[in-house]
Amino acid sequence: MGLGDDIRRGAATIRDADEVTIISHIDADGISTESILAQAISREGIPVRSVFVRQLEPMAMRHVPKDASLKLFTDLGAGQQNLLEAHGLTAEEVLIVDHHVSQPCETEYTQVNCLDHGYQKMSAAGLAYMLARELDNGNIDLAKLAVVGNVGDMMAREGCGLVGPAREIALDGAAYGNVVIRRHDLNCYGTSTRPVHVCLGYSDDPYIAGISGSTNAALRFLQKLNVTLKADEGRWLVWEELSFEDKKTIISALTQQLVAHGKETGRLIGEIYLFPDEPERTPLRNASEYATLLNACGRWTQPRIGSSVCRGDRGTAYQDAERMLTNHRAIIRELLQYILDTGVTELTHLQYVHTGDRFPDTIVGIGAGMALSKLDWHKPILIMSVMIDDPEVTKVSARTNEWALSRGVDLQDAMVRASEEVGGAGGGHRIAAGAYIPKEKEQEFINRVNRVLEEQFTSQSSHHC
Ligand code: C5P
Ligand code: C5P
Ligand code: C5P
Repeated sequence: MGLGDDIRRGAATIRDADEVTIISHIDADGISTESILAQAISREGIPVRSVFVRQLEPMAMRHVPKDASLKLFTDLGAGQQNLLEAHGLTAEEVLIVDHHVSQPCETEYTQVNCLDHGYQKMSAAGLAYMLARELDNGNIDLAKLAVVGNVGDMMAREGCGLVGPAREIALDGAAYGNVVIRRHDLNCYGTSTRPVHVCLGYSDDPYIAGISGSTNAALRFLQKLNVTLKADEGRWLVWEELSFEDKKTIISALTQQLVAHGKETGRLIGEIYLFPDEPERTPLRNASEYATLLNACGRWTQPRIGSSVCRGDRGTAYQDAERMLTNHRAIIRELLQYILDTGVTELTHLQYVHTGDRFPDTIVGIGAGMALSKLDWHKPILIMSVMIDDPEVTKVSARTNEWALSRGVDLQDAMVRASEEVGGAGGGHRIAAGAYIPKEKEQEFINRVNRVLEEQFTSQSSHHC
């Protein structure tokens, strides 16, 4: 059985349902997944409603209705099947659409999970789109939202962008006309919304000496290149608006600058996904900024606003989402600064920091990912934070990178094993995982994770140069 068979079986289950409840995750992938499936299912004439949860844990299960509807667990569920079972859900009333590592379980719940077929670089929104397309070919307009989910969950590979089925989906969007794929464009956050010097000055991955960290320095650098940075009416142009020639001039100057400082240039260029049907100079114009907008809604407890934006609301919902995005960015910057200022404690195979109750547990993982590229990225990073609604519980977020994966690191395995030993629960992906643990077990947990990582690192010697 291939992924296609699972998709056909999943679509048949949906078609047979009298009504559907979608239970989805609150991040960009979870929100885009929900909006793809909710639209596709209502287009079939089947009543559908949605519930968003921060994480599928015992407290969240009270939001899952006990009724006759088909429960569609999306972007979650695979790693919490025992919880579904404990809640009394039968295999007949559940369909799991997920890309997280599965937990073994007595009840054989039906799953559409790309990991079962060896696809690592695929988000739940990608699976949702494949189901939608199986339900009706007319759902091709929804490929764009799947691109948002894939980019939001960092499924693009450095140097080649989206791959495998995720690439086919982007190509569907391009064929329909609401996605434009730019193969070799500037890989920098804000290319659709920020003046070019602000975009470059704020960007630090890759770090470009004399430009990163200072919008003034970035502006001086650009001015020397004799490129057009302002529109006729005097406002600053965003990167997307520059002429092809000017973009080439800037990219080659940035490349030279990196080379001059002995830095790699690979990350400067990437594949970019643009949405030409969205208004210019808004975060909706490209997949990366669209995903951050959805994350801002979800991580700040308003996933429904994100979902409305995905369905096309460009009125109140969009205005609210933009406000949340501004707030989200400011707090993420504060969080990153806090991590860097406080400094991490280093163990042999792990670095960690505790952010206390300063930041919501829903965003610390984003800060961990951003901090890792600025710290010693050889060691996985772990951030602990206080769960605001339950101070006896500590939330853990862990992040690593492709380099460590190639040396055997598997954070999902580390979080699951170490959390179980201290009476907690964890899950996620090899590269990004999390857990909830009892507060009094923090130190024991950290030491255990360090030992698991040590085992993982030594179990696989590198095949790289
Ligand atoms: O999937 P979960 O919320 O559901 O994790 C999403 C986070 O995991 C994203 O913020 C992203 O940083 C990270 N991630 C990643 N690479 C993957 C999968 C997830 O960086 N392959
Ligand atoms: O650049 P700024 O500090 O405003 O970015 C903060 C927000 O932008 C975060 O939500 C982060 O996830 C997002 N961001 C991103 N990719 C980057 C830089 C920032 O998604 N390369
Ligand atoms: O919260 P954070 O962004 O760090 O989560 C990273 C990954 O770990 C996500 O895929 C999330 O679904 C997963 N996770 C989990 N169990 C937890 C916490 C996080 O499976 N208790």
